[in-house]
Amino acid sequence: MLRTTILAALASAALARDIPSNVQAFYDAHLNTECSNAVSDSFSSVVYCQDNTSSALFLKGPSGSYDNMDIDCDGANASEGLCDNDPTGQSMTAFMDQVAEFGISDLDAHIHPYVVLGNDGATPSFDPQSVGIEPLSVVAVVCNGKMFYGIWGDTNGGTSTGEAALSMGQLCFGDDAVNGDQGHDEADVLYIAFPGSAAVPGKAAAWKAKMKEEFEECLATIGDKLVAGL
Ligand SMILES: *[C@@H]1O[C@H](CO)[C@@H](O)[C@H](O)[C@H]1NC(C)=O
Ligand SMILES: *[C@@H]1O[C@H](CO)[C@@H](O)[C@H](O)[C@H]1NC(C)=O
Repeated sequence: MLRTTILAALASAALARDIPSNVQAFYDAHLNTECSNAVSDSFSSVVYCQDNTSSALFLKGPSGSYDNMDIDCDGANASEGLCDNDPTGQSMTAFMDQVAEFGISDLDAHIHPYVVLGNDGATPSFDPQSVGIEPLSVVAVVCNGKMFYGIWGDTNGGTSTGEAALSMGQLCFGDDAVNGDQGHDEADVLYIAFPGSAAVPGKAAAWKAKMKEEFEECLATIGDKLVAGL
């Protein structure tokens, strides 16, 4: 029992990815300003913002804030486990057809820590591809004093921003801290997407992973290179 507890503690300690100093500098530099290069209209005071130096795309709230994290359960197993109370669950994610090429029926919010970017279906709308972000590309998420890698895996059908798969919420805030109906309200989460095909892992990612930690880790080689360029 004790041994199991220690091993579990080691596993979660190993997982916690420290925020690289340049990413922390990016976070600090943009936090207490308004976005100076908005590429979208305002979604309830949050805009899609492009960093002039790196062309990275990030969600930016008013001065002093970034965005919150609502929990998305769309995709495979949308109503299983901690997702069984998701009020907005849908059976499929935006790039399901492309994911099928990797041998899985759809992304699974329990396993693939995807980020929801783009708003399609209401006004205003925004398509991240208009600034070069490619479907299923790596997204860095700074949350709760840590950093994790996910992928751009879904879009929002309304005007909500700041949304990620259950598994990303669990990596950020703990396995029991979030569920399909309980996210993270504080607007202190930084989501960063990167334009260009170098951000796309494609077949190389562990799409058939059984655990969120395995999928997150498989994005690190690409993710580390991308965030180094911020
Ligand atoms: C970024 O670019 C925009 C548009 O060209 C410009 O208005 C803004 O001042 C620039 N921001 C910074 C911090 O240089
Ligand atoms: C999750 O989804 C996959 C693919 O559809 C399925 O094979 C698996 O049985 C599901 N797991 C649960 C717990 O429902």
